[in-house]
Amino acid sequence: MSDILVVEDKESLRGMLRKTLEARGYSVEESADAYEARRKIQASRFLVVLTDLRLPAGSGFDVLQASKEADAQAPVIVMTAFGTVDDAVRAMKEGATDFLTKPVDTEHLLLVLERAMERQRLQTKYVLLKEEYQRRFGLPKMMGEDPALKETMLAIQRAAATDATVLVLGESGTGKELMSRALHQLSARAKGPFVAINCAAIPENLLENELFGHEKGAFTGATGRKIGRAEMAHRGTLFLDEIGDMPLSLQGKILRLVQERQFERVGGVQTITVDVRVVAATNRDLKAAVERREFREDLYFRLSVFPVEIPPLRRRRGDIIPLAEAFLERSAREMGRRGLRLSEEARRTLLEHAWPGNVRELQNCLERAAILCDGVDIRPEHLRLGSTADSGPTLADVMDLTGPLEEVTARAAARAEQEAIRLALRDAENDSTAAAERLGMSVPALRRRIKALGLG
Ligand SMILES: Nc1ncnc2c1ncn2[C@@H]1O[C@H](COP(=O)(O)OP(=O)(O)OP(=O)(O)O)[C@@H](O)[C@H]1O
Ligand SMILES: [Mg+2]
Repeated sequence: MSDILVVEDKESLRGMLRKTLEARGYSVEESADAYEARRKIQASRFLVVLTDLRLPAGSGFDVLQASKEADAQAPVIVMTAFGTVDDAVRAMKEGATDFLTKPVDTEHLLLVLERAMERQRLQTKYVLLKEEYQRRFGLPKMMGEDPALKETMLAIQRAAATDATVLVLGESGTGKELMSRALHQLSARAKGPFVAINCAAIPENLLENELFGHEKGAFTGATGRKIGRAEMAHRGTLFLDEIGDMPLSLQGKILRLVQERQFERVGGVQTITVDVRVVAATNRDLKAAVERREFREDLYFRLSVFPVEIPPLRRRRGDIIPLAEAFLERSAREMGRRGLRLSEEARRTLLEHAWPGNVRELQNCLERAAILCDGVDIRPEHLRLGSTADSGPTLADVMDLTGPLEEVTARAAARAEQEAIRLALRDAENDSTAAAERLGMSVPALRRRIKALGLG
C-alpha cells in the first residue's frame, strides 16, 4: 500500500510530482488515466489521492467517485488547469478535499497535502473517541422495560419528531442527560452537534461567557474571540443541564435564546442568530422556584412546552434487575472477568432498596460489587446496601455495638431511655407531669429515672 496515488496523464508532470513527494518521504503510486486509477483505488487503499481533472479514459470526477466509494473519508485533491475554476468548484461539491491550480507549486502542494492528512488523522481520532465514548456510556442505548419508562421513551420519540423545546424532569441519577442525548440522536438534528452545559457546575460570573462566548477585549484576559456553547450547537441541540440553577441575572438572555434564537457575545454588539433546539433538564421543582421568585415565570412557560418526566427507579421496579444485569455484565467485561451473576438473595436485596440515587446509584453499586466479589456469585454483602443504607446512618454509626451482648443491650437501652425522656420533656416544654403522661409513667418514677440517668 502506497501513501499517495498520483493520477496525471502528462508524464513529465507526473514524474515531477512523484519526485517531490518521494523526497518528502511519501511512497507514491502512479496512474496515467482514469480507468487505471479506478482499478488501483478498488484494489488497495491510499492515504490521499491527487488527481488531474482532465484525463483519458474518463475524468478526475470518476477517480473522485471511485475514491468516495472505497472510503468516504479518504481525502482527494484535484488539480485543474488555469481557467477551469468551475470544475474545481464542482469537484469540491462532490467531495474533493481541496484543489490546486496548474502549474502546480510544490510548496503549495505539500501544504495542501499535509492539511488533508492532518484532517484525516483528526477525523479518525474523532471517530475512535466517539466510538470509545459510546461503548463506555452505552449511548444512545436506553435500557429499561418497565411500562413507566416505556411511556417516557415514547414521549422522547414524539418530542424528537418535532423541533420543540423540551424540558426533561427527574430526580438525580434518573437518566436525564442520557434521555436528552437519545432525543438528539433520534431527531433530525442527529448529524449536528449535541452541546451540553451544566448550569450548576459553572460559577455565575463565568456562565454567560461559557454560554455565549466573548469578543476580544471584552474583559481583562480576553485576548481573542471565544465562541460559546450556544454558537457551537448551531444546527444541533443545546442541552442546558440543571437549568433550575440558572442565575436569575442570566435568565432573560436564556429566554431570548429560546424564543428568538438570538444573543450577543460578551462585549459584542453584533447580534448572533443560531439554529438550535434547546433541551433543558432539572431535578428541581421549577414551579416552586417560580413562586419563590427565583425563576422567571415567562422562561418557565417557554421551557415547559414539552415536558418529559423520568420516573425515579423506585417507581419502576421492573427496571431494577435488567439494568443491574446489564451494568454487571459491562463491569465484568471491563475487568476481564467472566460468568459473574446475581444470586437470588442479591436480587431480593436490589429489589427492596429504595434507590435514592436512582440509576446512577445502581450502576455504582454493581461496579463495586463486581470488584468486591471474588467468586462468580454476587451476594448481598457485595452490594453494600445495608437495609437502612438509604435512611441515614445505622445504629452502629452512632453507638458502640461491640462487647458482650448483655452490656451492648444495656447500653442501647440506656441511650434509648435517655433520648425518649429528653424528647418527652422537650415536647412538653419541661412540664414533668405532661412528660410523665406521654411516657406512661408516674411523675416520681420519671424524676427517679432523670436522676439515675444524670439528665437533671
Ligand atoms: N435507562 C438507562 N439505561 C442505561 N443507563 C442508564 C439509564 N438511565 C440512566 N443510566 C445511566 O445512569 C447514569 C446517570 O444518568 P444521567 O447522568 O443521565 O442522569 P441525570 O438524571 O442527568 O443525573 P443528575 O441529575 O445527577 O445529573 C449514567 O451513567 C447513565 O448512563
Ligand atoms: Mg445530569
